Amino acid sequence: MKINFKSETSSAEVAVAVAIFDKNELSEQAKILDETTKGLITHALKHSKFKAKLGETMSIMAPNDLKISRLILLGLGDKKKIDATKIEEAGAALYKTVCCTPDKEVVLHIGSMSFGSLKGGEIAALFASGASLKSYRFDKYLTKEKPEDKPALKTFTVIVDDAKGAQKAYEPLSAIVEGVHLCRELQSEPANVIYPVSYAERIEKELKPLGIKVESLGVKEMQKLGMGALLGVAQGSVNEPRLVVMTYNGGKKDQKPLAFIGKGVTFDTGGISIKPAGGMEEMKFDMSGSAVVVSLLKTLALRKAKANVVGVVGLVENMPSGTAQRPGDIVTSMSGQTIQVENTDAEGRLVLCDAMWYTQERFKPEFMVDLATLTGAIVISLGSVHAGLFSNNDKLAERISKMGDKTGELVWRMPLHERYDEQLKLSFADMNNIGVGREAGSITAAQFLQRFVNDVPWAHLDIAGTAYISRWEHPLAQKGATAMGVRLLNQLVYDHYEG
Ligand code: BES
Ligand code: ZN
Ligand code: ZN
Repeated sequence: MKINFKSETSSAEVAVAVAIFDKNELSEQAKILDETTKGLITHALKHSKFKAKLGETMSIMAPNDLKISRLILLGLGDKKKIDATKIEEAGAALYKTVCCTPDKEVVLHIGSMSFGSLKGGEIAALFASGASLKSYRFDKYLTKEKPEDKPALKTFTVIVDDAKGAQKAYEPLSAIVEGVHLCRELQSEPANVIYPVSYAERIEKELKPLGIKVESLGVKEMQKLGMGALLGVAQGSVNEPRLVVMTYNGGKKDQKPLAFIGKGVTFDTGGISIKPAGGMEEMKFDMSGSAVVVSLLKTLALRKAKANVVGVVGLVENMPSGTAQRPGDIVTSMSGQTIQVENTDAEGRLVLCDAMWYTQERFKPEFMVDLATLTGAIVISLGSVHAGLFSNNDKLAERISKMGDKTGELVWRMPLHERYDEQLKLSFADMNNIGVGREAGSITAAQFLQRFVNDVPWAHLDIAGTAYISRWEHPLAQKGATAMGVRLLNQLVYDHYEG
């Protein structure tokens, strides 16, 4: 979708939108339009149940002398409660309202609107970014969809006094939009298209042109490093695994890198501990953690972030076969610790533990954040609203929680405790790969990961519930992949680690 910022309007036959606040208070631009239309807006409001709640919209078909197609009232809710994310959500709601009409362009008038420290240019950019985020649709395989059934909306224009300021404010936001769109695409691609080798190639293609160093380790290299846990998961598949290491240096030479590690199980059948058939197709999303890491690096490079960042993703396919690992197999991880694989479906932690160990040993990072669609248990605990946050460091956890609130990518901190860790103990290997029974499944998974963390500050985000949403629609996404984590972690880097 094309984004325009202008200080005067020139388009005709388009949808025109103006903002309305709580208790149907008209914004300045709405007032002007109400006057020029001899009270069309006040009349419509009087005869509707519109309450101007945040993101609520009302469309009025325009009388033909107006030379526009329709007039859209966009609710912004309580003026005092408006923040950046709320403006983005309103922009997304406007997109959603117009995208299914025949209109090719929507023109939102905001004049010199401001809320506290948020000024016109920034507000215009936020409306546009919300609309762009919402516009992503995974439709490349719909060969028979009729053109008239596709969203007609191609241009989102904001009329704002400070059009130059808006353009400038939109630059870093467009880097986020590009990262989020890439993430959703990687997530949504089926497992016959994105498998470890093709995925590694795609990462190179996306990131190398941006000046990011991309290394791809194959089986032999991983064997040399002793990554028995990751390789054990991969051994059942004809698709070879890869460990992809991405390095972006935008900070000072002596600055320790920030490390992001992603679970990249391109398909999780469960292996020999096979999953039930119903819903298994959703396990193409089991590489979402890695997609967030790849896309975060893209966003950081696009907006030239002043930080040193490494991304490490473990790419494997978890399949049952004659060569697959069996329940009860004992593998030796890169750390030297041995693991009994009691359940081959608890494979994410086996991939992550080697990827995390490698990252700490090689990069000695400032902190390490891993993302993974790790457990079904976190979906039961937190649904698709909050991701589970586990951390050995209060400062890092606090920062991530705050960034979650700021970006609307919510996280909820969960506990770690020795008594959970004890449930991983065994008498014949250093640990089991699952806890006792099904209780506290996401916590025992996090405890497992913590056994592979040295002194470094570490946070684990279990995004199994939030990475993709099939039952309801997130304000900034359509159904399916959300890219949850890209905006949060970009904000974390921006607010705290760029000098
Ligand atoms: N990929 C799954 C977790 C998952 C479940 C992600 C639902 C998204 C939606 C993971 O590899 C897994 O299968 N975990 C098992 C662990 C269990 C065997 C201890 C689970 O959560 O059931
Ligand atoms: Zn699994
Ligand atoms: Zn999995």
